[in-house]
Amino acid sequence: MKTLTFAMIKPDAVAAEQIGGILSFTKGHFTIVDMVLLHLSKSCAEEFYAEHKGKPFYAKLIEFTISGPVVCLVLEAENVVDKWRELMGATNPKDAGSWTIRHRYGEGMPNNAVHGSASDTDALREMALFYEWVAELHG
Ligand code: CMP
Repeated sequence: MKTLTFAMIKPDAVAAEQIGGILSFTKGHFTIVDMVLLHLSKSCAEEFYAEHKGKPFYAKLIEFTISGPVVCLVLEAENVVDKWRELMGATNPKDAGSWTIRHRYGEGMPNNAVHGSASDTDALREMALFYEWVAELHG
């Protein structure tokens, strides 16, 4: 059964004109169900990354996430959460396999080029937030 996940092309990769290169990784493997370029507010970024609140890198992560526009994606495939996470590679680009997006485009942490939901539950939460952001834009 095909399911959905939430993915994001982060501000570092958008600024470096890597949107096209990253999207080409999805070809033949994922259906792009939704795609919107957004510049997140601080409160949106804080809600999105709420589970990291209190961690030493939290402030830097929020500052980075709102530093420029991001591309928000809803992707569909069989086993999509794991499939996208495998394609992204390890959180730290230094540890990411040579075939992965983070190896190719990530610079470090938090500037690791892409995000992907960690589980089906997280995907539902993150997609709900995404559609709230879009509704606010068009409301
Ligand atoms: P992401 O998959 O979006 O999930 C949480 C993000 O926090 C992660 O990618 C990184 O961008 C960032 N992150 C995780 N660990 C660290 C760290 N030790 N230092 C800086 N940023 C981090």
